[in-house]
Amino acid sequence: MGLAQRAMQHPLLAPVYERAWRPLWWSAAMGFDVPHLRRERQHAVEALRLAPGQQVLDVACGPGNFTEVYAAAVGSTGLAVGVDLSRPMIERAVATHSGPAYLLGSATRLPFDDRAFDAVACYGALYLIPEPFAALAEIIRVVRPSGRVALMASQAPGRLPAGAIAAVERATGLRAFGADDLTARLRSAGFVDVTHERHGLFQYVAGTAPRTG
Ligand SMILES: C[S@@+](CC[C@H](N)C(=O)[O-])C[C@H]1O[C@@H](n2cnc3c(N)ncnc32)[C@H](O)[C@@H]1O
Repeated sequence: MGLAQRAMQHPLLAPVYERAWRPLWWSAAMGFDVPHLRRERQHAVEALRLAPGQQVLDVACGPGNFTEVYAAAVGSTGLAVGVDLSRPMIERAVATHSGPAYLLGSATRLPFDDRAFDAVACYGALYLIPEPFAALAEIIRVVRPSGRVALMASQAPGRLPAGAIAAVERATGLRAFGADDLTARLRSAGFVDVTHERHGLFQYVAGTAPRTG
């Protein structure tokens, strides 16, 4: 487990994550683009193309801050499931955003059948996971043919030399993805309609799974 990933397990983080930790660090990393952050959850619902009756998975759901919005979008005939490695985060999710179902588990070994979900999201976590591409392979495995995947992850500043990026990664335990790392993985898995949007030190990537999985 990486250093930053371990920090997410700390019981003192879960209670302050949604209202203080995320708004503070995310807005700093996005150049204080507050209007964008206000729209972020709706943006995720749109990227996932959620509709009533669908089944949606939120990988690394934290305290359920996005999972709850996904649950509202799929309605009472659908199902939203959040999975996270941190027990304090899952306990917080159950206590504060009780609509969805929550599970303690790892993104790198999702406890679901192949093609189980209409849509799969993973926001704010791939850069914490020491094997992010194993997690991405799992995300791809559990989405149904023609289903949607939406990811939000770090993006290395283009102007920094590779050595400086590697030093920051070593010091923080956070991975800085290149602009094409995630889109290329989706495309090579047969995804179509792949989009990439950069906001400061973050990128948003979405795509549609191949019609036949
Ligand atoms: C920064 S929070 C993101 C929460 C939420 N998705 C958001 O965007 O605000 C990162 C979450 O990833 C979880 N996480 C880290 N590694 C994980 C793994 N291998 N499997 C599942 N969750 C993981 C952490 O426990 C933490 O709750």
